[in-house]
Amino acid sequence: MPSPTPDPVAVIGASGALGFGLVVRLARAGVPIMIGSRDATRAEDTAERARAVVPEGSFAAHDNRGAAGAANTVILSVPFRNQADTLTDLGDALSPGQLLIDATVPLAATVGGKATRMLGVWQGSAAQQAFEMVPDGVRVVSALHTVSAASLSDLEHPLEQDVLICGDSRTDKREAASVIERIDGLRCVDCGRLEMARTTEALTALLISVNVRYKIHAGLRLTSLPDSLWA
Ligand SMILES: NC(=O)c1ccc[n+]([C@@H]2O[C@H](COP(=O)([O-])OP(=O)(O)OC[C@H]3O[C@@H](n4cnc5c(N)ncnc54)[C@H](OP(=O)(O)O)[C@@H]3O)[C@@H](O)[C@H]2O)c1
Repeated sequence: MPSPTPDPVAVIGASGALGFGLVVRLARAGVPIMIGSRDATRAEDTAERARAVVPEGSFAAHDNRGAAGAANTVILSVPFRNQADTLTDLGDALSPGQLLIDATVPLAATVGGKATRMLGVWQGSAAQQAFEMVPDGVRVVSALHTVSAASLSDLEHPLEQDVLICGDSRTDKREAASVIERIDGLRCVDCGRLEMARTTEALTALLISVNVRYKIHAGLRLTSLPDSLWA
């Protein structure tokens, strides 16, 4: 029996570096993608770009609200300085029961500072800010901060790395992991409650610092974990 088509995933910020990398990797894994952009033409252009990379992929272009309304799982991949505006704009396009995977990193670079420094966020992390802003009942997990956009976009690049997931519900984290692990080479690790996102988000700054020194796109791999992480 053919394996069932996976549920669609919406990517808000799909035209950006990380968003596009996720779009093409997930599409190659057979996931139908709802491409979200603030601009309809940019959404169409992004879908065209993605089709050129993954001709067998399924891509639908939307504005951000349309994309968010068209999938149960929504990945938020916008710069920190635009996270609040984007979530305000999404508003009731998100509904209770949906899963928001927040990849936002509060890097100082987003307000003109250094990319190796973090901004303080009143709520503790970008993910906690997202949780505060989404409608009640929208489930929020934090993930993907240590996965490089450049590595994702290069489909020939073997990923073989961990994705650190934080959230207050084990079920929600498992659901997010089941989407993310469709991407070959990514292993998801439960890192604890959403408040731990403050630490996992900061690892992006650390990796940027390493990348600059070694001229690479480093990822993370944790050791000594059991074979089955989501049983
Ligand atoms: N790049 C990486 O390797 C990486 C890795 C891990 C985590 N992250 C985090 O993931 C998020 C996205 O990173 P990125 O590098 O993909 O960012 P980016 O390329 O600069 O932007 C992503 C998208 O955000 C949207 N956006 C919404 N409001 C915007 C505004 N006012 N100005 C500009 N763009 C706006 C844009 O899409 P539309 O114009 O189509 O709406 C843009 O294409 C960030 O929080 C980043 O820290 C990035």
